[in-house]
Amino acid sequence: MSPARSGEHVAVPGPGTGSPSACGQAPGSPAIHAIELSKRYGRTVALAGLSMTVARGEVFGFLGPNGAGKTTAVKLLLGLARPTGGEAMVLGAPAGDRETRRQIGYLPELFRFQSWLTAREVLILHCRLMRLPRARRAAAADDALHLVGLSGRGGDKVGTFSKGMQQRLGLGVALLGEPALVVLDEPTSALDPVGRHQVRVIIRELRDRGTTVFLNTHLLEEAEHVCDRVTILSKGRSRATGTLGELRVRRPGVRLRVTGLPSGWWHSLGAFGRWAAEGDWLRVDQMTVGRVPELVAAIVSLGGRVEAVIPEHQSLEESFLKLLGET
Ligand SMILES: Nc1ncnc2c1ncn2[C@@H]1O[C@H](COP(=O)(O)OP(=O)(O)OP(=O)(O)O)[C@@H](O)[C@H]1O
Ligand SMILES: [Mg+2]
Repeated sequence: MSPARSGEHVAVPGPGTGSPSACGQAPGSPAIHAIELSKRYGRTVALAGLSMTVARGEVFGFLGPNGAGKTTAVKLLLGLARPTGGEAMVLGAPAGDRETRRQIGYLPELFRFQSWLTAREVLILHCRLMRLPRARRAAAADDALHLVGLSGRGGDKVGTFSKGMQQRLGLGVALLGEPALVVLDEPTSALDPVGRHQVRVIIRELRDRGTTVFLNTHLLEEAEHVCDRVTILSKGRSRATGTLGELRVRRPGVRLRVTGLPSGWWHSLGAFGRWAAEGDWLRVDQMTVGRVPELVAAIVSLGGRVEAVIPEHQSLEESFLKLLGET
């Protein structure tokens, strides 16, 4: 792995190249295909029949509150836990297939690296585990350190790292060996705002290079910034799947920032629909965007000044809460 880098641009490895090839995967198959995947822990139903398909090259978000079953799903897809029902194919092979696992980069939710090793030693160890040729290990480790912003700390022991630095190192390990699929379970939970931004940049770069990214998160903002599609998971079930545009319902309405309206103005605007005022903001319901020029003209004719006009969308947060509320 020898990514070229310049300035803000963060380069990441492309999928597959230089990685072990004998993994029997079917290139035309989806990255992930799950059918009625289920998992029970005793009486707890962690996953209750999850069916989904993630295309190759997609950044797919798995969004859900604590305990929704996100980590359980990832463990089943990686073969770290056995399903109690259903099945899944990952990169064209049954979930957990040993050879295919070498094509997958994984950042677990909770992990501990050996505290007595340096960050570079951790990376080299994982290069060995994935059977990267010896001659490429040092460069791969240095590239990973650079990528996750730990260049100056490669010689420091992991035991001296803050949790954010450990999470960065975990991400570096997940990106080693140019995986075709990168599975990230809450990759930014310990990161500061700069770190979160860097992870988003890395994920976009992965997408640009055709790498599939499966991202577990409960941060709506994170999903909004990077995901092509998301599944909203609650109580082990998928509640909705789609692009963010599909999940954010457009509402018939508009918000306007208006100053200078005389008292009694509201008599004149009733014809445009139901409205509500809060400070300088006026929200008009049930109004098509096509009527906005008419509304603006009416406000101006009353002596008002229109400083902003914003068509209303349901935010992802509203969709999310609505879907969870309904369950
Ligand atoms: N090893 C386990 N033994 C028993 N129950 C488990 C085990 N792992 C998960 N569960 C249960 O399965 C459910 C789903 O847990 P999971 O860790 O998959 O949720 P999650 O969506 O990843 O949540 P979080 O956002 O908190 O990480 C929870 O009720 C949890 O208590
Ligand atoms: Mg989890």
